[in-house]
Amino acid sequence: MQNIYLIGFMGSGKSSVGKQLAERLQKSFIDLDQSIEERNGKSIPDIFAEGGEASFRKYEAEALSAAKSKDAVIATGGGIIETPTNHAVMESSGKIIYLHTDFDSIIERLQEDQNRPLWNQDHTKRRALFEKRLPTYKEWAHVTVNTNDRAVDEIVVQVANVIK
Ligand code: S3P
Repeated sequence: MQNIYLIGFMGSGKSSVGKQLAERLQKSFIDLDQSIEERNGKSIPDIFAEGGEASFRKYEAEALSAAKSKDAVIATGGGIIETPTNHAVMESSGKIIYLHTDFDSIIERLQEDQNRPLWNQDHTKRRALFEKRLPTYKEWAHVTVNTNDRAVDEIVVQVANVIK
């Protein structure tokens, strides 16, 4: 099975790149955050509010397992790498592309976004989360693509070329 998994921090463009990439490759597109909400009938902020991050991670891993045999472009949530067993699931069913965005650009893109519980905290904590995750994104990725100051269609062309 050859899925294309897009990983990267919140606001790195995984969903917008994923949609266009899927069209270009004529694959279906799965937004894992949306699957989690549909499977559970609740919004992500509600899942966090009711069961905390641990229950969100459990639903996330279940949604990933359900998506792994779909032959799709899959935009994952920024915290997919927080669950180590997700690595083997992705590694065994496709290619992992890390969309890297600098922290300053992420701040500009997300501003005061209210729909991401782990962004909805103070600047020091946001930055610490970014720094903590960075090495794991790089370690899990087969390919890293820089998205700073680049248009979505340009990124899509680059990803399509590197996975050929
Ligand atoms: C999260 C990122 C979000 C979503 C949830 C947790 C994270 O997805 O899965 O709020 O831990 O970084 P996006 O990366 O699409 O914002």
